[in-house]
Amino acid sequence: MPTVAVTRVIPEAGLDLLRAAAEVRLWDEDLPPSPEQLAALLRGCDGALTLLTDAITGETLDREPGLKVISNFAVGYDNVDVPAATARGVVVCNTPGVLTETTADFAWALLMASARRVVEGADYVRAGKWRTWGPTLLRGRDLTGATLGIVGFGRIGREVAKRARGFEMTVLAFDEYEDETAARELGARYVPLDELLGQADFVTLHVALTPETEKLIGARELGLMKREAILVNAARGPVVDTDALVAALRDGTIGGAALDVTDPEPLPADHPLVGLSNALVVPHMASATHATRDRMAVLAAENLLTGLRGERPAGIVNPEVLDRSSTRGQSDR
Ligand code: DGY
Repeated sequence: MPTVAVTRVIPEAGLDLLRAAAEVRLWDEDLPPSPEQLAALLRGCDGALTLLTDAITGETLDREPGLKVISNFAVGYDNVDVPAATARGVVVCNTPGVLTETTADFAWALLMASARRVVEGADYVRAGKWRTWGPTLLRGRDLTGATLGIVGFGRIGREVAKRARGFEMTVLAFDEYEDETAARELGARYVPLDELLGQADFVTLHVALTPETEKLIGARELGLMKREAILVNAARGPVVDTDALVAALRDGTIGGAALDVTDPEPLPADHPLVGLSNALVVPHMASATHATRDRMAVLAAENLLTGLRGERPAGIVNPEVLDRSSTRGQSDR
């Protein structure tokens, strides 16, 4: 039986699958293992089911030459140095497809909550400030008929575009790779990023974090946005320059921001973003439904076990490792 590390408690559906086929070494603390604790957990393992809070570097892999598969419990895998894994013949997997709708739903929830000031309203009631109905109280922005800019028109971005139809929105999309058929079907129009930022009433980010997308939205880009525009980020925190965002929210360069993800993560409670009334920050929870987290656990477990059998996992992100049928022993390190 292979030995696998699981770096946090995941839904039972995934753990059951792993326990039936492997010796499971589970990190069952609430907080992620430190780099030293992670190294100890991985020692002697054949594979690992990791989270976006675990940095898997070339050094991590060099320390554990027996590791053959890293299966990430997320669609994003920026916590894993994939080129380093590929160079070492290590299969890396993610969980695409199973969280698309759930994440798009949540981006929509952020959009609505921010546009209509839902959290501010709830805080107002909790604080005992609700004394009467008021014609000018807590006025927000209409979504219906507004222009939505979707940055990153992949699976999740397109799913967000579907939701915009019900709100009769004009949908602009920006993506490095343009799929005109998909855009046409969803009633979206590709435009350059600057044009999208200038025209959209709401901008929602759905790009993977890569060196190209890091700080994609900085002071210049925020300056191109409409003064009342709202920025939603349910992608990765570092896609937005946090300092520039704080300044833009303070100065009124943009109207508001609704963030599922931040840089850094977690965001300290005394961080300026937390205190700004036009920023809504939640703790990276866009895929957090019971059903979706079960699906992610099952897919991540299946990816890991399939990879350990030497077969091609459904969620492999570096298939070239298998295509060149390299094993760790024969890899090009
Ligand atoms: C992901 O999958 O990348 C999310 O950020 C967590 O579900």
